[in-house]
Amino acid sequence: MSRLLVCAPDHFRIDYEINPWMRLSNSVVPDRAKSQWYELMRVLELKAGSSLERMQPVPGLPDLVFTANAGVVVGRKAVPSRFRHPERRREEPYFEAWFRDHGYEVIKLDGGFSFEGAGDLLGFPNAWFGGYRQRSDIGAYPRLSEIFGREIIPVELVDDRFYHLDTCFCPLSGGELLYYPPAFDPYGQAAIADRVGQDRCLVVPESEALRFACNAVCVAKHVILPVGCPETMKLLQARGYETHPIPLDEYVKSGGSAKCLTLALD
Ligand code: ARG
Repeated sequence: MSRLLVCAPDHFRIDYEINPWMRLSNSVVPDRAKSQWYELMRVLELKAGSSLERMQPVPGLPDLVFTANAGVVVGRKAVPSRFRHPERRREEPYFEAWFRDHGYEVIKLDGGFSFEGAGDLLGFPNAWFGGYRQRSDIGAYPRLSEIFGREIIPVELVDDRFYHLDTCFCPLSGGELLYYPPAFDPYGQAAIADRVGQDRCLVVPESEALRFACNAVCVAKHVILPVGCPETMKLLQARGYETHPIPLDEYVKSGGSAKCLTLALD
């Protein structure tokens, strides 16, 4: 069973440009964005068997839909994000309030570091990875490691199109990793291959990485990913995963896809 935090796209739009995907001139088509989001929710609930926790959309906060950036939750502990860009810092009180109102112990990061939640901190039960440089600061990870009692391996993100770890790195339930190696520096690539095991590394081709193939949601043996990623689907199916492609191009206009629209709560 997986519980996911989501937020409906009532106010989703492109109001600013804080990553290379966003262009003010490339506006969101609200009806398409809504139907794509509802289709994602339908598949998450009915095909993957997830249960959804919905938070209230807020006018003027177009990126609140990307709940992966609310923070990181493990057990009853929640560490809310501290966004790099002022445009998204306005979301912090809403995510934090959601955690508090739902009974989480909210632990705030001190030291002025940026940290963008489950967009940048992802992992397997025995190895966590923390993306840094684009959005989160490497300095946030020692404290997060202490809070959660886990080792966190910091990995540098070197291509600004893959500005959050979850845009190029997707741990799967069976221990495999779906990822796009050139988004990492050579040290990061080596650290990942070493910790995950070369035989469990599934490398996504560039053309599909650019369609956000790695921004997939894995729930047990189900993987929900954007349409247009046939090679990635083959890699997944060969390992026994059931793939569910969904059109999510309205979210690519903002630099996101399936995984960014969810936050794992367990
Ligand atoms: N427009 C948002 C931003 O630039 C997209 C966030 C996508 N979230 C993610 N976890 N990759 O912050």
